[in-house]
Amino acid sequence: MKLIWTQSSSLLSASLSLAADCCAVAEGIGLPCGVYVTVTDDPEIQRINREQRGIDRSTDVLSFPSVNYPQGITAGNAERLIRQEYSGDDHAYILGEIYISCDHVLAQAEEYGHSVEREFCYLLTHGLFHLFGYDHITDEERKEMRTMEEKAMKLAGISRDGETGSAPTDAQLIALAREAMQRSYSPYSRYKVGACLLSEDGRLFTGANIENASFGLTICAERAALAKAVSEGAQSFTAIAIAAEGSAPWPCGACRQVLNEFAPDLRVLVAWDKGNADEAPLSVLLPHSFGPKDLP
Ligand code: THU
Repeated sequence: MKLIWTQSSSLLSASLSLAADCCAVAEGIGLPCGVYVTVTDDPEIQRINREQRGIDRSTDVLSFPSVNYPQGITAGNAERLIRQEYSGDDHAYILGEIYISCDHVLAQAEEYGHSVEREFCYLLTHGLFHLFGYDHITDEERKEMRTMEEKAMKLAGISRDGETGSAPTDAQLIALAREAMQRSYSPYSRYKVGACLLSEDGRLFTGANIENASFGLTICAERAALAKAVSEGAQSFTAIAIAAEGSAPWPCGACRQVLNEFAPDLRVLVAWDKGNADEAPLSVLLPHSFGPKDLP
């Protein structure tokens, strides 16, 4: 899921990006989708609420879906409708716009006694599920929407009740690697790769391959994910999922060596095209390895 920021907003962008990916995975959206996100304040969101919806009140989050879902249909089973929303400029199917009021984020974080980050992610999640076709007019709808939001937040490790939930499944890791693949920068090879690394403490880190006009400077998806993880303080990992299209994206030799530094017993899952998957331990992919254990 591509978050297209309408103004500069580096604030928490990595956790928001993961939360958005988890929403797309929870909903089961297969297409590369994007949404426009605007972080604003109470006076501005009140103006938008008044002008667009005739409600002269500020609020925490507003969303404007681009898809008109028929009754009972949500984004996970609306591929044909979503395909009509392709934006060539954004290289994504645009599901709509989300506005979040920073004033509300801060006040609600304090009210619920949790972090600003968690509140931000929650409001983004709520806005996204509206863009996926959910609503909360009836009790039944509200329950269904809450269940989906919880599923996404649990996967992202930021559920409102503070529980991290169970470990992500292999299928979820692969789906997250596929989401990350959409952010690949690969104009030279046109081989998009996405990775999702799971740390021992249950955190998820995604990465995509980043190519360069000086070809040798390309960074693989696995190393992009690992660099994010280590920079955030994670140094032990249990699994990595790698996704691509056209062939099985087994990690290259350099990535095997770099992953071995932190996780010689890593499970490596690869997935390609629709439904092809394979798995091998890193110790099999890199036999007789040289690593930290070998330095006196
Ligand atoms: N690539 C990866 O991202 N991971 C690997 O382990 C193998 C290769 C990328 C690098 C380059 O952008 C493209 O795939 C073609 O080599």
